[in-house]
Amino acid sequence: MVDQKATNVVWHDGEVSRQDRYQILRQTGATIWFTGLSGSGKSTIAVALEKALYDLGKLSYRLDGDNVRLGINKNLGFSEEDRSENIRRIGEIAKLFGDAGTLSLSSFISPYTKDRDGVRELHDAADLRFVEVFVDCSLEVAEARDPKGLYKKARAGEIKNFTGIDDPYEAPVRPEIHLHTDQMTLEEEVRIIIDYLVANGIIKTEFMTRTGEANQVAV
Ligand code: ADX
Repeated sequence: MVDQKATNVVWHDGEVSRQDRYQILRQTGATIWFTGLSGSGKSTIAVALEKALYDLGKLSYRLDGDNVRLGINKNLGFSEEDRSENIRRIGEIAKLFGDAGTLSLSSFISPYTKDRDGVRELHDAADLRFVEVFVDCSLEVAEARDPKGLYKKARAGEIKNFTGIDDPYEAPVRPEIHLHTDQMTLEEEVRIIIDYLVANGIIKTEFMTRTGEANQVAV
């Protein structure tokens, strides 16, 4: 995606391996990547999933579009180039979180297929699991929700290049999970994701919850 600029740099391994870290945490790292229109429910689902994982004794961390754009990506706007760089950086950060042993819950519109596929490839190359979740919601419903009043501004021409209005959104073709947030409840959505993570060995049931009880019942 981006050319290597610095020369004479090599990856430096330590004495503690990824497996050692996973052992301490009693879980494996992975990336759950939410993509969808603004107002589709990405952040809401990530918040609920974070809580559900916590209740199962699993460490996760949310990487959220708005939060990240207030910090590490504060120098990026919404041109195609800036959105790509936004996603590339988050992909790299999610990879580090996964290597550290955390389940990162990344919520970004991430409108371009090539950028999302780039993050997937990054994870594949690093032997880390990447779960793409399409948070599918019609533009009509997202616009009616308009939690931040941004669609209204975009329609009034006060915001340019707004996804779904005058900027594209390329829907995933083969996401691991496809949620229809205009037809499902939040509880159903979280359950679908947890079931997927268990069925695919990304979270394991034999591990204990934070309260020390076997979580066989919970999952
Ligand atoms: S992305 O396209 O680069 O993935 P990201 O998820 O980080 O976008 O940020 C989207 C958030 O920025 C939206 O939820 C919204 O609050 C805000 N935003 C401001 N301007 C725009 C715009 N032109 N298009 C989309 N979102 C915007």
